[in-house]
Amino acid sequence: MSTISHIRKNEDAIPTVCVTGAGGFIGSWLVKLLLLKGYNVRGTVRNIEDPKNLHLKGLEGAEERLTLYKADVLDYESVCSALDGCDGVFHVASPEKVKDAVVGTMNAVNAAVKAGLHMNPNRSSDAVLDENCWSDLDYCKKTNNWYCYGKMVAELKAVDMANKRGLDLVVVVPPPTVGPMLQSTLNAAGFRVLAYMKGAKKTYPNAVVSLVDVRDVAQAHILVYENPNAYGRYFCIATVVHRAEFVGMLSEMFPEYPITTECEDKINPRVKPYKVSNQRLQELGLEYTPIKKSLYETVKSLKEKGHLPPARMCQMPPKIAPSM
Ligand SMILES: NC(=O)c1ccc[n+]([C@@H]2O[C@H](COP(=O)([O-])OP(=O)(O)OC[C@H]3O[C@@H](n4cnc5c(N)ncnc54)[C@H](OP(=O)(O)O)[C@@H]3O)[C@@H](O)[C@H]2O)c1
Repeated sequence: MSTISHIRKNEDAIPTVCVTGAGGFIGSWLVKLLLLKGYNVRGTVRNIEDPKNLHLKGLEGAEERLTLYKADVLDYESVCSALDGCDGVFHVASPEKVKDAVVGTMNAVNAAVKAGLHMNPNRSSDAVLDENCWSDLDYCKKTNNWYCYGKMVAELKAVDMANKRGLDLVVVVPPPTVGPMLQSTLNAAGFRVLAYMKGAKKTYPNAVVSLVDVRDVAQAHILVYENPNAYGRYFCIATVVHRAEFVGMLSEMFPEYPITTECEDKINPRVKPYKVSNQRLQELGLEYTPIKKSLYETVKSLKEKGHLPPARMCQMPPKIAPSM
């Protein structure tokens, strides 16, 4: 994910910024926080009439200061129209296909210029993961991890092009993101938690996961945009936990749901969470939301939006016959 900021044209005027993918999980929170801060916001969506984008119109300040633009990041001209006259752009939209994600990012970088405006198997588990760490592209290819592959290629190309074309580009890199949803539709992040809550996942892997709250990700984007000294990459990671801790927090808070307590790996010792540096954003003033609170509010939101049925309607894990 990238934030592309551009030098303000008129310091006295209220800045106008564009958020691509405004109707999505992270985009919606970013739009909400920008409106609350008094920005004029242009949000791009692919279909303005789609009911899944309706929540944007209900945000505080939206009536006066939010304009929705129909734009597909694969359609350069539509991105240019949305960005024309903006002071900055937060590029959040991401098509699913690798090639499209890269093309979409290039279009956003080029349109910003025109407007004037982890995954590495060789890294030691004791090494601190910081902004100097990158995914291993060959490993991503070998393991068919096209999501990480596409993200890294898009970032590298965006940085290269921004350097060549003199664009002020700052990148915010979040891990799996949790927290309450503003949109009504379920996104990948909500789906992950839902699968455990409903008992659809019968075991958890012997693996660790880094997590952050969606509101922190949105806030991080605004912090790097507003800080003139911000540069380069910013990891936006609140914590790294083993999956056992992840499901443990969920079952402690929601004991009525059939959340698995079984690890799929019965042989190996538990994988240790790696150390991570989230210092750069903390130095800009970001205070991370405790992940237990984020998970609680994720589940609350899944219930409120009708994605998570009451516990009694969820599938129960098969009872293991007591051993004799
Ligand atoms: N959520 C996470 O756990 C997480 C973690 C790390 C990084 N990220 C990254 O953060 C970004 C946003 O994630 P999210 O969770 O907010 O995703 P999301 O809820 O699925 O939203 C994605 C947005 O991208 C838009 N989009 C997709 N293809 C597009 C295209 N061709 N042109 C214009 N817009 C397009 C979608 O618009 P439509 O409504 O028109 O489909 C949607 O608004 C993505 O780049 C994602 O990879 C997310």
